[in-house]
Amino acid sequence: MKPTHTSPGSATCASVRLDLTRLDGVLPENEVHVWHTDLAAQKTAISAYSELLDADEQHRASRFIVAAPRVQFILSRAFLRIALGQYLGVHPRDVRFRTAKHGKPELAANTDLRFNLSHTEGTTVIAITRGRRVGVDVERIRENVDPVELGDRFFSQKEAEWLRSQPASERFSAFFACWAAKESYIKAWGEGLSMPLAGFGVIPRGGNTKLELEVYSKPEASRGWSVWQLDLGPGLRSAVAVEEAACSIRIGQWFPQDVVGNFLRSPSSP
Ligand SMILES: CC(C)(COP(=O)(O)OP(=O)(O)OC[C@H]1O[C@@H](n2cnc3c(N)ncnc32)[C@H](O)[C@@H]1OP(=O)(O)O)[C@@H](O)C(=O)NCCC(=O)NCCS
Repeated sequence: MKPTHTSPGSATCASVRLDLTRLDGVLPENEVHVWHTDLAAQKTAISAYSELLDADEQHRASRFIVAAPRVQFILSRAFLRIALGQYLGVHPRDVRFRTAKHGKPELAANTDLRFNLSHTEGTTVIAITRGRRVGVDVERIRENVDPVELGDRFFSQKEAEWLRSQPASERFSAFFACWAAKESYIKAWGEGLSMPLAGFGVIPRGGNTKLELEVYSKPEASRGWSVWQLDLGPGLRSAVAVEEAACSIRIGQWFPQDVVGNFLRSPSSP
């Protein structure tokens, strides 16, 4: 598939390509793989997916009172296990996680693979890379919020002003685009809301685009990161933040039946 954005000749050679077609586990050092999947199509296999989860995940799943977020959690974790299993060369059930200080899940195995996951109603996105921190976020555009009020409360002054300058009809999507970009950076650091939201800024643009990150108190810190806005389909706003600028983002939509059948039919064999 043709690139949607490239920067030929730039020092970073950074680009977004929509060319991931097979979950074959091959990940060069300078790439970030972003897989997204439509969860609705997989609901029917929920009990089989559930078997891929470990006891801790099963326990977390059982604590959801409402079915929709429970199903989303199970499918997302199964998708994460299947994807990471391919990159690690192990069965999905043998992927082991540990949790960092502020709750960010990491691989327990001795590996340079890093990942982050995000889900929103009906969609899960996973970003995977090597040897660098990565964060991803996906948001479904909702109109039950007051974007300007939220922007004034949570965004930096520059972002809030940008949001106010958007045409009223576009403020919901603009708000969620900015939110996703900020959240991806927060998630890459893994420190949750202990990170001051107004201390850095990213102004969204259209399509699959590299955004300019500004860490206001420490401009030099901005240079060590790339934040990319991702176009994953109508109604969604998404972004991935990755440490170090010299990398390519490759995006693929995951159709689990290609890979999953093997695991669901013979759960004990790799
Ligand atoms: C986890 C957190 C970092 C993001 O949560 P979220 O946006 O509600 O949810 P997402 O779907 O994007 O991400 C959740 C996933 O991130 C991962 N995660 C959990 N803690 C994390 C952390 N501290 N850092 C990075 N990733 C984390 C997990 O895989 C989790 O999914 P799972 O528990 O189902 O496996 C949340 O705790 C948080 O602090 N959010 C900040 C919310 C906010 O006010 N953002 C303002 C943006 S302007």
